[in-house]
Amino acid sequence: MALLPILVAPDPRLKLKAKPVAAVDARIRRLMDDMAETMYAAPGIGLAAPQVGVLERVIVVDVAKDDEKPQLLRMANPEVIWRSETLATYNEGCLSLPEHYADVERPAECRVRYLDHEGEIRELHATGLLSTCVQHEIDHLEGTLFVDHISALKRNIILRKLQKLKKSKELEPA
Ligand code: NI
Repeated sequence: MALLPILVAPDPRLKLKAKPVAAVDARIRRLMDDMAETMYAAPGIGLAAPQVGVLERVIVVDVAKDDEKPQLLRMANPEVIWRSETLATYNEGCLSLPEHYADVERPAECRVRYLDHEGEIRELHATGLLSTCVQHEIDHLEGTLFVDHISALKRNIILRKLQKLKKSKELEPA
């Protein structure tokens, strides 16, 4: 297993659409495991392959609290096949937009079809934080970030701050 570097917005690679996985083979399983390790180390509750520079439809999610046992989901080609009409708002963050948060409204519940780490077709009925997290990660596969759901004004403030932060890091002596 290996820790993968996480891309920070604004980065054009985070705005691209990811390609479907043809088969969950050893390479994809390795990617899933590396992504899980990277997510836990960050720490975060979800990570999508484009965030580590891989344009393939793979996400990992674990919304278990610190005192609960891990509930890792490794998903290839996840697809939302049903969304509730009821909406829910969460204050979302993202490992690619560190230290920035915003309220985002999404369907409160959803049903997702995906391939698990063994290539089995599975369906998940997600509610609460899991529903939000899975939708947030699937958004990444379309090149959509949580800031794309908020006003352009708020989005630009966040992206400009991140851009400045990146520039200041580049200027730091190694
Ligand atoms: Ni994210």
